Amino acid sequence: MRHIMSPLDFSTDELEKLMDLANDIESNPDKYAHVCEGKRLATLFYEPSTRTRLSFEAAMMALGGKVLGFSDSTSCSATKGESVADTIRTVSCYAHIAAIRHPKEGAALVASMASKIPVMNAGDGGHQHPTQTLTDLLTIRSLKGRLNNLTIGLCGDLKFGRTVHSLIEALVRYTGIKFILISPEELRIPGYIRDDVLDKTKTPFEEVTRLEDALPQLDLLYMTRVQKERFFNEEDYVRMKDFYILDKEKMKLAGPDMLVMHPLPRVNEISVEVDSDPRAVYFKQVQYGMYVRMALIMTLLELEV
Ligand code: CP
Repeated sequence: MRHIMSPLDFSTDELEKLMDLANDIESNPDKYAHVCEGKRLATLFYEPSTRTRLSFEAAMMALGGKVLGFSDSTSCSATKGESVADTIRTVSCYAHIAAIRHPKEGAALVASMASKIPVMNAGDGGHQHPTQTLTDLLTIRSLKGRLNNLTIGLCGDLKFGRTVHSLIEALVRYTGIKFILISPEELRIPGYIRDDVLDKTKTPFEEVTRLEDALPQLDLLYMTRVQKERFFNEEDYVRMKDFYILDKEKMKLAGPDMLVMHPLPRVNEISVEVDSDPRAVYFKQVQYGMYVRMALIMTLLELEV
């Protein structure tokens, strides 16, 4: 039985197969409409979500399966003190596969160790968000045509943004990748990503503060919001939250083929006037998220058409 805790749980060859399957699902949805008939997905969300939970649920329904679960830690027995391990042991009796989001780093791993069914990490604290990374990789590969030879700007809250941590870990396995890490001093990438991932793999990167300086060099700009829920005090959040705002003027500094991605939700960091720019692909990214989760569910359940 296989789980997904980190994007590194899949080799690059396995990721290629997963993305090929996602692209085939996109092109031929009817072919896959019954593959999960009789199967149930449990969504265990102890933290708020729009895209991840609903895309998992939409993915299972599009495969002909059914869904059950909770979307709020106050509506399950966690409020009575039940552990994550006991919760997944229980859910293993009701469902064939589970997606879990939890505010604590490592909670998904704890669940996977107690589970009788495949567990998908749908975000654990500030740590990892592997299915967002699968979404991001599929978006880049589908729209850029490659996952190598890219200069990628990661901008915003690089300290708490788990999507950024997972994406860096996944992309350092491809050749010709260079990162420009754009953040205020207080929200720089954590040391464990800098030392254990970037330095260890000899991946070139620069840390800069000004978005304007980075824009002309980029093939891809990955914007992130400042993660309000992970700040210890409101004052620091308020000081940081509007540090970067990508608008039409700044987009003039970027090349004609630079993609703008964002895991969403967006707050103020991308002005709505950018949405109509053909380089802004963050809502296409949402759509790819459903296809790749369909492919992931099929792969973990070892289902084929
Ligand atoms: N990208 C993402 O994780 O969005 P949600 O928090 O809405 O699931």
